[in-house]
Amino acid sequence: MPQKATTLILFGATGDLAARMLLPSLYGLDSDALLPGDLRIVATARSERTSDSFREHARAAVRDHVPEQFVDVAKLDRFVERLSYVQLDATDAAGFKRLAAEVGDNAGEIAIFLSTAPSLFKPTIDNLEAAGLAGEHVRMALEKPLGTDLDSSREINDAVGAAFPEERTFRIDHYLGKETVQNLLALRFANVIFEPLWNARAIQHVQITVSETIGLEGRGGYYDGAGALRDMVQNHMLQLLALVAMEPPASFDATAVRDEKVKVLRSLRPITPETIDTHAVLGQFGAGAVGGQPVPGYADELGSTSGTETFVALKAHVDNWRWAGVPFYLRTGKRLPERKTEIVVQFRGVPHSMFAARGARTQPNRLIIAIQPEENISLELMAKVPGLDRGGLRLREVSLDIDQPHAFSDVRRRIAYERLLLDLIEGDPTLFVRRDEVEAQWQWIDGVRAAWTQAGMTPKPYAAGNWGPSAAIALAERDGVSWNDT
Ligand code: BG6
Repeated sequence: MPQKATTLILFGATGDLAARMLLPSLYGLDSDALLPGDLRIVATARSERTSDSFREHARAAVRDHVPEQFVDVAKLDRFVERLSYVQLDATDAAGFKRLAAEVGDNAGEIAIFLSTAPSLFKPTIDNLEAAGLAGEHVRMALEKPLGTDLDSSREINDAVGAAFPEERTFRIDHYLGKETVQNLLALRFANVIFEPLWNARAIQHVQITVSETIGLEGRGGYYDGAGALRDMVQNHMLQLLALVAMEPPASFDATAVRDEKVKVLRSLRPITPETIDTHAVLGQFGAGAVGGQPVPGYADELGSTSGTETFVALKAHVDNWRWAGVPFYLRTGKRLPERKTEIVVQFRGVPHSMFAARGARTQPNRLIIAIQPEENISLELMAKVPGLDRGGLRLREVSLDIDQPHAFSDVRRRIAYERLLLDLIEGDPTLFVRRDEVEAQWQWIDGVRAAWTQAGMTPKPYAAGNWGPSAAIALAERDGVSWNDT
């Protein structure tokens, strides 16, 4: 068992992620006595602050982002006592000396959380190494974006790998920290009923949707250089696809789970200039209305015209025995009609319907895994409509629901970063992304981008509040498939 960290160093500690997620998560863990008693948290960032003023900042972050019923004044006082602050610039070695002094010589296990611009990864790592903050007793978590393509991601991975071996590198994909995403593993591998049907013989297609209602949220500088494909598909959506499609791992441990995911990612069929037209649709939102509120178009929100896609729909294939011929339709976008992350597994119809001669139609079964905001798993089954059937037999779809919040109403829901930070502190990399996975993801994504550039594809406009451009509907309809829009 790895040792628990006794020091956590947060880079980018005054940023948005720290305020919205990291500090509230650490507070949540601390208030439930889940952090090691002796854990110290050393915050760093570029701005001039004292430890006291950072503690005030942390208090405000917790108050702003943790539901009121979970904020306990005494616990918050105790939590902020763990915090100290060291001002540093990633490119200046002097700050790292101060950091090392703050951490001290006998710090025990150290966990570092790097959430800074990717351009600062290398200087930060070099300076950490020079200051003695790398080595056997240090593990490193990296927040996205880890590069913009395979080459730049390799550069980052090489720089990290020079100071931290793979087993001590924790790449974050916060979707893996979501309870409902982990529940996918339980659904598939803790039940006997799905696995025999979980293949091309019984499944006709799979849909994965991650739709958002928000626009740029002040992140235009980053987002415009990334776009929906790199911001959402390269990481979160391909991880979801890998969890749906992977073979059963032998055990729930970092090597077994990640070995199976990477095999799926490497089996993704490349999308080429010849297939791009029928396998990808890009969109960019224009002015419209979301939830009844008028919103400006992307260019207005950004302040300039741009060729960046805010929506992408793809048809992917996993070329292996299990999934031969089963399309995986993926779509994600900003300023869509609702916020939802959902996986739909569409089964094939029964091979012969004994009810057809009596006028009844059967619909193929569907499994809908709603990940957020609602957590629900529902299996759509055919049932007989009660009656004497004199006018013909009638069958109707009914759904068998596992309403997660009700089934587990006594259990507190944790945010993704609580799980990931605790795993980092305790040294369990199972829910973090291994280098070979990230690189397989980039390899496929780079192929998609190269194909669309070669084919001269540009985003098609869609009005905010719609499900992307109409071509996205056509992408699925051509195969007789409709997106699950409710
Ligand atoms: C981030 C993306 O990784 O995920 C954002 O950079 C996106 O653009 C966010 O809004 C979505 O995360 P969640 O947890 O709200 O689904």
